[in-house]
Amino acid sequence: MTKAIVIYESRSGNTEMMAKAIVAGLEEAGVDVELKRAVRAKADDLKDMDAVVLGSPTYVRSLIAAMKTFLFEMEKADLKGKVGAAFGSYGWSGESIEILTETMKNLAGMNVIEPGLRIKGRPTEQGLKECREFGKKIAEKIK
Ligand SMILES: Cc1cc2nc3c(=O)[nH]c(=O)nc-3n(C[C@H](O)[C@H](O)[C@H](O)COP(=O)(O)O)c2cc1C
Repeated sequence: MTKAIVIYESRSGNTEMMAKAIVAGLEEAGVDVELKRAVRAKADDLKDMDAVVLGSPTYVRSLIAAMKTFLFEMEKADLKGKVGAAFGSYGWSGESIEILTETMKNLAGMNVIEPGLRIKGRPTEQGLKECREFGKKIAEKIK
């Protein structure tokens, strides 16, 4: 069975809703998935994963602080060639998705799905459907 981990951080719950829907999409596609908040995630959690999926909202044109801290933890893991994907909720500019994508590619040498998934504000039913589909797309890329 293929394995994936979804690591996210969220202040007002929007990116968390996306994370849970992406997990549902991956599970529907038969992937064994773990969900963790960035503040609790460690480099060891990434061992044996086929895909690492990172989610952060955009705050003051950047990542939420806990996700920035987690990237220094991620540097310790060997993720070269593994599948990566980024997502997050935003209000008007949404830089976090590109920052995560660039970091996974350049720092970790991952095979990142582009574009990542951005949703403005709180995800609607349609937005949650897009998240589940994004999860299925990640599952396809692992197989
Ligand atoms: C202080 C503050 C700064 C923000 N800065 C940005 C920003 O630079 N760009 C942007 O697209 N959204 C910005 N937002 C909007 C958030 O990204 C948006 O509310 C998002 O849905 C929050 O996601 P979360 O519920 O997962 O924390 C900001 C919100 C706050 C409160």
